[in-house]
Amino acid sequence: DFSLMLLATGALAACASEPAAAPMRDLTFDPDRFVPKVFTVDGRRIAVRAYEGLPVVARPVEPACQAINVYIPEAYFRGEAVGRYTARTAPIFLPNQVGGYMPALPGRPDERMGPPPAPGTSAPPSAMAVALARGFVVASPGARGRTLRAADGRWTGKAPAAIVDLKAAVRWLRHNAGRLPGDTERIVSNGTSAGGALSALLGASGNSADFEAELQAIGAAPARDDIFAVSAYCPITNLEHADAAYEWQFQGLAEYRSIAISMLDFKVERKEVAGRLDADQLALSRELQAAFIAYVNGLGLHDGAGRLLQLDASGRGSLRDHVSALLAASAQRALDRGDDLSGRPWLSIESGRVQGVDFTAYAAAAGRMKALPAFDGLALETGENQLFGDARTDQRHFTAFSVRHGRAAGAARADALTVRQMNAMHYASDPSARAAPHWRLRHGTMDRDTSLAIPALLAAALRERGLDVDLALPWDRPHSGDYDLDELFGWIERLM
Ligand code: DHB
Repeated sequence: DFSLMLLATGALAACASEPAAAPMRDLTFDPDRFVPKVFTVDGRRIAVRAYEGLPVVARPVEPACQAINVYIPEAYFRGEAVGRYTARTAPIFLPNQVGGYMPALPGRPDERMGPPPAPGTSAPPSAMAVALARGFVVASPGARGRTLRAADGRWTGKAPAAIVDLKAAVRWLRHNAGRLPGDTERIVSNGTSAGGALSALLGASGNSADFEAELQAIGAAPARDDIFAVSAYCPITNLEHADAAYEWQFQGLAEYRSIAISMLDFKVERKEVAGRLDADQLALSRELQAAFIAYVNGLGLHDGAGRLLQLDASGRGSLRDHVSALLAASAQRALDRGDDLSGRPWLSIESGRVQGVDFTAYAAAAGRMKALPAFDGLALETGENQLFGDARTDQRHFTAFSVRHGRAAGAARADALTVRQMNAMHYASDPSARAAPHWRLRHGTMDRDTSLAIPALLAAALRERGLDVDLALPWDRPHSGDYDLDELFGWIERLM
């Protein structure tokens, strides 16, 4: 199944950095500078005005990435309604195209994330095209990423650049609210994997003062950056606890089929390398698992029914029961629609009802995918190490554990503010940030890119704030997103 698990970011032809002393960009939206385009969705033709490559900040460092593509149904310029919306009420769909924390160009409705269609089949419409057909205004921001480098050798896309750029895009939309169809109080963010993490982070960290200095430096528009709703598929977030969560989920499993995520042609390619944790690594795994147990018990979060989420010294307890219940609910939905769930030794089923989940057997069946630690590599070898570099350093650690056990001579560690700025989980419980009121989180049951505890704890932290959270683990889905667009847009429309 690994060949299918390819998340392509939009082909990034050029993300050339800015020459010194370039003129300030005008952030005023001009409704008359558009290209007419027609997209076909389910046989219906949708006429839109396309505004592509608009700068979202006055002083971009990487202009191609710090830009936005805006698509607006033509009907709104004739005073007509599309479905339930008008130019004044249309929600704004804000999908980012980030994969692998790589740089991303603004997206286009005729590009799709994810694997190419099977031979002889046509690709289903993109989330952007479906949004337009349903009368949304679509605004797809680009974002800087971990591999960008200026001509003088300085790295220009390290953390927190990507989230700063997405916030700048939201500020740009609000700055232009009177000039642009669409309701800037109804912005709905969407993203997958690293893009899902950024979508969640955008939704959790609205107006946080932590980002003000970076936003000022690039000349972001003076406006709020909180949003209305978040859709996030398999968010690779909470990176500083994700290593520990991974060892908790896969405790004692020595075999792994590691995926090397490379970045040829700015596509995130996934190559499988089989391996085995040795005795020393298994000891480190136990150390990380213990750290996760302490972390969870310190959070004091609850499940949807108000039960405290805890773990005992063996890694069992109410958090594990909660994640198992999410797996059981997913299996039940699959059974109810007629899927054959035989050959799943971790599930007990009687008369068409799921009776129980053996979490250890589930983890063994799903299989460990990453080596140890999963995110903060001891030799600084992961994409996340590269994300947490700085202007002068390509790769750094971001956890105390990997600093302590690291093997790269002279390795540095990212500062605490930068690590926090990338973590949706942090802002989910920071009352000084304005969190989006509505959340839809999806993480497939066959997704091993991060532990299922990561979305479960994020959902719990958001619920603790009194926010509206819909978390589910779609049955047998691998690491991917945008696979249930009818449900996604149905969910958004029920919020309006
Ligand atoms: C992505 C996947 C990962 O496993 C990861 O660690 C970071 C990003 C991605 O597909 O975006």
